[in-house]
Amino acid sequence: MDMNTTIRTFIEFYRERGHRLIEGSTLVPPDGDPVMFTTAGMHPLTRYLEGDPHPLGRQLVGIQRCLRTTDLDEIGDNTHLTVFQMLGSWSLGEYDGPQSLRFGLELLCEGFGLRKERLHATVFGGDEQVGPDVRSLETWYELGLPVEPTVEDNWWSNGPTGPCGPDSEIFVWTGDGRPVGTPTTDDRWAEIWNHVTMRYHRLEDGSLQPLTQSSVDTGMGLERLMMATHGVRSVFETDVFRPWLFELHNRWQPDTRSLRIISDHLRSSVVVIGDGVRPSSTGRGYVLRRLLRRGLTEMWRDDSSRTLSELSEDLIGDTLSRFGQDILPSVVRDVLVAEERKFCGLLSRGRSLLQRLYPEGRLTEQDYWYLHDTHGLPRDLVTDLVTELVGGLQ
Ligand code: ALA
Repeated sequence: MDMNTTIRTFIEFYRERGHRLIEGSTLVPPDGDPVMFTTAGMHPLTRYLEGDPHPLGRQLVGIQRCLRTTDLDEIGDNTHLTVFQMLGSWSLGEYDGPQSLRFGLELLCEGFGLRKERLHATVFGGDEQVGPDVRSLETWYELGLPVEPTVEDNWWSNGPTGPCGPDSEIFVWTGDGRPVGTPTTDDRWAEIWNHVTMRYHRLEDGSLQPLTQSSVDTGMGLERLMMATHGVRSVFETDVFRPWLFELHNRWQPDTRSLRIISDHLRSSVVVIGDGVRPSSTGRGYVLRRLLRRGLTEMWRDDSSRTLSELSEDLIGDTLSRFGQDILPSVVRDVLVAEERKFCGLLSRGRSLLQRLYPEGRLTEQDYWYLHDTHGLPRDLVTDLVTELVGGLQ
């Protein structure tokens, strides 16, 4: 099942069950939203999950692109991505969590052909504020799925305050042979789908206020679902990443981990640029700049002559079209190449300054300020260069 068929199957399943399709928004939340990027499918629906009536009714389905910088250090493993697409379904006070789990299992097994024997669930085991999620536990028993209770991993919120609640996650076995262990004891269980029962609003003081209606918010990473339906071990082996891996491998032959990091960071940068963000020294533009620089650093690890101007427009265009973005690939490539040039300039200026002023690689707080204020070298870049310089001295 390719990407479009996977999306269609998901949406049709819920449409047949009375859900209305909502249009996904861009990665950039509207003005006035305190969040820098959309990190979850529910983000644009926050006020409806808090009780406002949604114009399309109480059952919704959709796909939303998301960006998570919290997982940056995990990129390169089998499942984490910076930018990904989240398939979501919502019941705004209509049906309950157990019904959502029933829909979920039916769709995974009958719609996507996953085998129940290779699935595992987790549920909220309770803490000092909220009791265990007994109804979800019983539902999984009824449906015949092994289930494990946990505490922190089964509570979901989109920030320190706002709507939140216990969740139940569905995992798929990605190892060879028969599944063993549980999601907390064996990391070959990969989480694919989260079903959150939004029952509370967390206030500034940490207390929980029950919401007037209990809603359900589910989110499943499209790339992870495809990993499961393709029967492969990593999201990078799905057809979403094939064009990136194919081109970068042919061009530069980086090792597997580098290939994954470069693909993730460049693909994510393309999508962020596609949503109108440009590299800068603050806010969203700075997130993009950091992401791109991380990608470039990885790209140059084995060979500093590699350049983003070698990326084909077809590759950039393929990503833009998968995310439904209407911008010319050449425009995106120009942004990438201009930022690469800028970074190259900063690096060579930084290297020569450090060698001249601090040959031992010892810098005080004041030195960092000086390099930043007088020479425009950001602290994190200087830190990386100091590490490089000290490494060279050893
Ligand atoms: N909002 C939930 C999540 O992102 C579904 O995991």
